[in-house]
Amino acid sequence: MLITATISELKSHLPMPSSGKQIGFVPTMGALHRGHISLVEQAVNENDTVVVSVFVNPTQFNDPKDLERYPRNLEADLRLLEETGCHLVFVPAVNEVYPEPDTRKFNFGDLETVMEGKHRPGHFNGVAQVVSKLFDIVQPHRAYFGLKDFQQLAIIKNMVAQLQLPVEIVSCPIIREESGLAMSSRNELLTADERKNAALISQTLFEAKKLITEKSVPTLAEWITETINKNPFLCVEYVEIVDSSTLQPVENRNSNEEIVCCVAVFCGKIRLIDNIVF
Ligand code: PAJ
Repeated sequence: MLITATISELKSHLPMPSSGKQIGFVPTMGALHRGHISLVEQAVNENDTVVVSVFVNPTQFNDPKDLERYPRNLEADLRLLEETGCHLVFVPAVNEVYPEPDTRKFNFGDLETVMEGKHRPGHFNGVAQVVSKLFDIVQPHRAYFGLKDFQQLAIIKNMVAQLQLPVEIVSCPIIREESGLAMSSRNELLTADERKNAALISQTLFEAKKLITEKSVPTLAEWITETINKNPFLCVEYVEIVDSSTLQPVENRNSNEEIVCCVAVFCGKIRLIDNIVF
């Protein structure tokens, strides 16, 4: 496994396009857990060469405190990656990715005016900036993203379509802790008590899935909000039940459309997201 901080060294180790070798790519911000590793393992199974990037992208943080406290643990990350059989790890410094400030403004229409886009202004523009740059460097055939960040996946697919990039976006299932809590680098920032209580978020979503035929969509959203907010450790920022492709709120359940319930919940100071497809 080669670890490099520079674009030129990374490029010199990528297979030539004429070799026909397939490149798989997994972008991450590090503090890796089993969720990330599941993406890397799938990429290793499906490609000849796998590149993982570990880069805490400053342009996608709308809250400087969030950026500052974002967990970083490169040594542990490299140990985990070594076991997956991935080939190249790209760990650039900020000025390697952004030698000049990136002033590009993407337009994702209604996909970015809801949920994370609404509550974290500029977040998806920053995600698109970094992912488009990384795609340009790595030139992957396939790139792997987790359904944990449901809206991010929709944004990335839309960006790939807009820019007509020759990359297949592969969606990977949410990996959860035994308690049901969706794995997240931010879970490391929770106290033991908070972590225990945060499991109520996913447990409520699992219960909600059982209730979808009994309750109307607005009543179900209210029920989820109230159930989570009853726990003194948790405070709901949003609960949205949306069409899984347009991400627009749905009022009624229509058997033809797939709907997904996305939530953002503060557990103490830490903001957690999760979702479930109904
Ligand atoms: P990060 O939060 O590190 O996540 C990297 C990838 O791992 C994302 O595609 C995310 O959806 C996936 N992932 C995280 N937790 C997961 C889980 N529990 N199960 C399955 N997949 C999971 O998402 C980002 O970084 C950044 O926005 C990035 C795309 C790297 C751009 O900076």
